[in-house]
Amino acid sequence: MTSDRETVLIVDFGSQYTQLIARRVRENNVYSEIVPHKVSFSDVKTVDPVAIVLSGGPSSVYAEKAPRFDENLLDMKVPILGICYGLQLLVDHFGGEVHSNSQGEYGFATISHDASSRLLDGVSNNTQVWMSHGDIVDSVPDGWIVAAKSANQIIAAVEHSARPIFGTQFHPEVAHTAEGIKILTNFLFNITRCRGDWTSASFVEETVADIRQTVGEKTVICGVSGGVDSAVAAKLLHSAIDGHLKAVFVDHGLLRKDEGRYITDTLQHGLDIPIECHDYSDQFLAKLKGVTDPEEKRAIIGEQFIRAFEKVAESHKGADLLAQGTLYPDVIESGGVLGTADLIKSHHNVGALPADMTFDLIEPLRELFKDEVREVGKTLGISDAILGRHPFPGPGLAVRIIGEITADRLTMLREADAIFIQALKDRGIYDDIWQAFCVLVPVKTVGVMGDQRTYANLISLRAVTSLDGMTADWYRMPYEVQAEISNKIVNSVKGVNRVVYDISSKPPSTIEWE
Ligand code: XMP
Repeated sequence: MTSDRETVLIVDFGSQYTQLIARRVRENNVYSEIVPHKVSFSDVKTVDPVAIVLSGGPSSVYAEKAPRFDENLLDMKVPILGICYGLQLLVDHFGGEVHSNSQGEYGFATISHDASSRLLDGVSNNTQVWMSHGDIVDSVPDGWIVAAKSANQIIAAVEHSARPIFGTQFHPEVAHTAEGIKILTNFLFNITRCRGDWTSASFVEETVADIRQTVGEKTVICGVSGGVDSAVAAKLLHSAIDGHLKAVFVDHGLLRKDEGRYITDTLQHGLDIPIECHDYSDQFLAKLKGVTDPEEKRAIIGEQFIRAFEKVAESHKGADLLAQGTLYPDVIESGGVLGTADLIKSHHNVGALPADMTFDLIEPLRELFKDEVREVGKTLGISDAILGRHPFPGPGLAVRIIGEITADRLTMLREADAIFIQALKDRGIYDDIWQAFCVLVPVKTVGVMGDQRTYANLISLRAVTSLDGMTADWYRMPYEVQAEISNKIVNSVKGVNRVVYDISSKPPSTIEWE
């Protein structure tokens, strides 16, 4: 990306709130990027951050294998903010003392702060903060001041007296910290002097220039799936390279009901980009025959997509670039930006592509969260009807049919899913939900229909609320809506005699079942 972009680097020590820090910074129009704590100093130098945040994390600084950071970062002369474990690392490094507090401190606390604190400037006294830590700071290093204490006398914030290095024991990034945004904006604007000019319009401008430079005279094939991300990616590419773009929809046979028609009618007209449609469903379904392992399904689908795009590319001479709508959470969950985070699952966009693929990838959205993609889509003039669609995973219904994928099972799931989604739209609650879908569970249960015993399939309804798909809560769906959907599905989908509602959140579950 262009070098004059201001980047705040967030060094991740494994906190559940790390993504939240990134989002809070970005909400203030400053670009932020998460890197694992093992990031090398040379990689950091290439990013040339304007400030560094050390995240929280579950470890103790004195534990044998406590995660640390490259101490050269401290010589970069940029402002540094340590949060929770990040603060303890700073205190420990500079010679202060941290010790384990047997009870820890979890939940709300009130703090009062020193009037000279730059970080807490303008924050009210006795303000409410959110604590979540086991260890505490006993004494600050020489040359540091205690900037705030909590009501029970625990050191809540520290500052270096000569250098722009700060730490908070509490989490300014979580909504429970009443004046957390004020604290973060003090850090970003009063201390770091950020310009705050990273907006969806500036992102479009920068990315368009980057795409033009990368593509030159080549041709790009952009896979369009019907989802929001690939639609925005296609529109962005179209604005950058128009005549060098081929938007291609590959039907893998794992789509929802009437999805082909949505692509050729609504999407093609809404984006005002011609979309070539290719039906490869027979190939995909043949390769998936008998496969039940989720990661194997993803790998097969990832590979078949590439084989299909290679075929398509043969008819577009010079098409050696493939564009995808990969997002930041896909990158993080597939192993992290620099490949050191734990794999949660291989999002096929990033993690499950064949090694012998000949395309170079262009992923213009890989730095963005979903809501940021929607903002970019708005800036590009895409309608709410297209941008408001629930996310749909690249591997499609394959990861919603638990067990083997067969034509009958696909039909059953498609019909049930169409009923569910239509009911949410009819009730006016579709837009309150981040994502809703049906899952076909591989068990049969006994039922009774019209005095006849049945032994048939089970559908689970899944509906969640979320900001970015990284965490999610199950949607509190009104009983009468659940009842209506259950009745309709059992009465009209052949082979289904039972419907259940999934009441799990992420974590510990994931949104999809596979
Ligand atoms: P999970 O199930 O990991 O899902 O909590 C988070 C979000 O990502 C979507 N998802 C995928 N998207 N390829 C995609 O393009 C995939 O392999 C994939 N797996 C999950 C999921 O639908 C949810 O919105």
